[in-house]
Order: sequence, then C-alpha cells, then structure tokens
Amino acid sequence: MNMCELIVKKKRGGRLNEKEIDWIVQGYTAGEIPDYQMSAMLMAICFTGMDEEETKDLTLSMAKSGDLMDLSAIHGKKIDKHSTGGVGDKTTLVIGPLAAAAGVPVAKMSGRGLGHTGGTIDKLESFHGFHTSLTPEQFIKNVNSIHIALAGQTANLAPADKKIYALRDVTGTVDQMSLIASSIMSKKLASGADGIVLDVKTGDGAFMKTLEDSKALAREMVQIGTLAGRDMSAVISDMDQPLGYAVGNALEVKEAIATLNGNGPEDLRELVLVLTSLMVVKAGKAKDIREARILEETLDSGKALQVMKEWIVAQGGTAEEVEHPDLLPQALCQEAVCAEKSGFVTKIHTEEIGRICMLLGGGRAKKGDPIDLSVGLVLRKKVGDPVHSGESLAILHANDREKLAEAKERLLKAYEIKKEPVAVRPLIWKILDGTEAE
Ligand code: URA
Repeated sequence: MNMCELIVKKKRGGRLNEKEIDWIVQGYTAGEIPDYQMSAMLMAICFTGMDEEETKDLTLSMAKSGDLMDLSAIHGKKIDKHSTGGVGDKTTLVIGPLAAAAGVPVAKMSGRGLGHTGGTIDKLESFHGFHTSLTPEQFIKNVNSIHIALAGQTANLAPADKKIYALRDVTGTVDQMSLIASSIMSKKLASGADGIVLDVKTGDGAFMKTLEDSKALAREMVQIGTLAGRDMSAVISDMDQPLGYAVGNALEVKEAIATLNGNGPEDLRELVLVLTSLMVVKAGKAKDIREARILEETLDSGKALQVMKEWIVAQGGTAEEVEHPDLLPQALCQEAVCAEKSGFVTKIHTEEIGRICMLLGGGRAKKGDPIDLSVGLVLRKKVGDPVHSGESLAILHANDREKLAEAKERLLKAYEIKKEPVAVRPLIWKILDGTEAE
C-alpha cells in the first residue's frame, strides 16, 4: 500500500477499507509512516469524514495497536468514565474519589490537554510528585485496596492513539467526530473496564458545537462499546460556558478540592452527581439513579475527600497539598478584568476562554511542549448573571506580563453583555444507554 495514494483517496471523499485503515494505524505506530503524511491523512479525514464502518475499524485497529489490559484480578465490576473534552472540566478529579468512596472500583485511564481543552493528567501533575506511570500490578493493587487508580497512556496501551492524539493536538485536527470517537473508545476498549460512562460535551467550548453532532458522537461511541461487550452510557452535558469557575490546571484542582469539601460550584456538583450515579448503578452498588442520591451524603461527609488524599499519596503526591491547596503551583500575577458596561452576561465564548488559558501557558502549542500548571483564569460571572460596569468578570492568573495584556483584551471580547437576560441552557441535555443507541 502507498500512503500518498491513500491520502489522495480520502481527500477525494473515498472510503478506506479495514485493511487500509489497519495498515495506516500500525504503520504510523511503528514509525514507518512519518508525521507529515499522517497529518495530511488526519486533515483529509477532517474535510471528508468517515462512515460508521470506517470509524469502527479505526477504533478496533487503534485498540489492538498495543497491549490489552487484563483487569480480571480486580474485584467487582470495573467502571471508567471519559469526557470528550471541555473548558474547566475537572469532573474526574471529583468523580474518581466520590465513586471510589461509594465502593465502585474506579480503573481510570486519562489523557493530557487536547486543543483548547484541558486534560486530567496535566491537572493532577499540579500535585508535586504525582505520577501516572503505574505498572499493571500497581494499578490493580491500588484499585483493590483504595478503589481507585488513574493511569496515563503507557507506551503500550493503545499506542496508536497516544501518537495520533499528540499529532492532532498540534495540527488542528481535533474536532472531527470519527477521530474523537476512535480516540476515546480505542483507549477504553484496551484498558479493560466493564462499564463506561461517557460525558459528551456540547456547545461552544466542546469539539462538537451542536446538540445534533454531540448526540451523533455519543451514539457512535455507545454503539462501538456495546458491540465490544461493554456496559455503556453517555450523558450529553452542556459546554456552552466553562464548567464551574476555574480554568487552568492547578486552579481547577483547587476548585475540585473545594467541591470535595462541600464548597464547589453548583453546576460542577450537579454534573458530578449525575455521572457518578451512573457509575454506581453500573457497578451494582445502587438499584437506580434515585437510590444513588446517597452520593450526596458521601460527598458532603468528607468521605470522598479522604479517598482523594489516599489516591494522591498512592500515586506519589502528598496529602498535605489536598489539605492545603495553597501549596499547589501559584502564578505570580493575578489581575481582574472588569466589565465596560452594565447588563447581563448573555454569552461566554468558551473555546476562546480555553485558548486564553493556552495563551497564558496552560496548554501546548507544539508536541511535547511543557505547560505552566499555575496559570489560567477564575470567572466571576457566568451566563445569566447581572453585571455592573467596572465589576470584575474574571481574574487572570499569569506569569508573563505581555501575555497577560493580550489575555485581558481577549477576555473582554469573550464576554457578551446585553441589556436583557437570556435563558440559561440546561446542564444535562440527554442520557443515552446501549439500547437507545442501537
Ligand atoms: N478525549 C480523547 O481521549 N480523545 C479525543 O479525541 C477527545 C477527547
């Protein structure tokens, strides 16, 4: 086969068969196909798309590009959760310990930031010493003893996705449905959880901007997982404004800890409870979502916070930073951005908020770039809030004065303020399971 011919075929809207897809995936993973050709292929896929069969073939080929994790030594039904990516989306940092405190074996595989969205591993690395390079034995031992372990993508777990993910991040090829579905589901299938809860974001800060596209993505992933014998659910949740108030790695960790302390933002708390309820039901720890409301007690009693400490310590960090989040990385400058007129916040350009965080150093511009864990922003106003001229819209956290000046200008433009308020969009749009997705 010839990669250039396959790129041209895809560019012209042709479909790739199972053998061609597997040849590309395994060839790229082995280093036989260079980045520049794979980048061109990814861009062709962005322009002409893939059908359901191609997406399934791509997913299965990526899943088998490395080892398939055997989690059978973990007691009980193992549940994973994955988000399609958002701005200020720190749900895993709360859901992991909460589900674990409720007795769910959480065997979680996470990734790094992608495009304008943050990644759980980057966020967790705000804890000094925290690492995700667990051996399979350590991973299993941690889930059995404290009910939670979070692994990064080790060299051999869906390595095709690891390489393609990093390439997509820096080639403008993230926001394509088949690439997202195969990226997420290849990792999930390789990492061996029995049940998977997907948080599919919709809106300006998501990769899928419309509800229709988000539903299609959710259906596609649930179908692939169900076909592979996994117990699947997907929640379509709103990402037309950042989740919670904090955007940026260490800032989000602090907000997650506040939520585990019972002082978190309402939207984050609600989404966490819905997603964790589904995990609890899948693990057989509650009959239905209503019975899973007991999770509120687990969250408010501090039990989940205690699990977070054990988890961070089990993966190289210290409990002290969970108890005193001020010890986490802090930026040198903190500056308020103030409204220039009075009215109501009617829109927050959420992707732009993610990009402002990247500009400040919170995301990657090139493959392997280091990121600044301390920078980002904390919103003071969200959609629907009244605002007076001169009042603070957000606080920027920065380490570079020039970038701070540009971020201030862009942040002002990212807020729309009008005389009349608008209806606030629902946080949860739809919950989908394996039967509905057929
Ligand atoms: N999360 C992933 O793991 N991959 C994507 O493509 C998007 C979100």
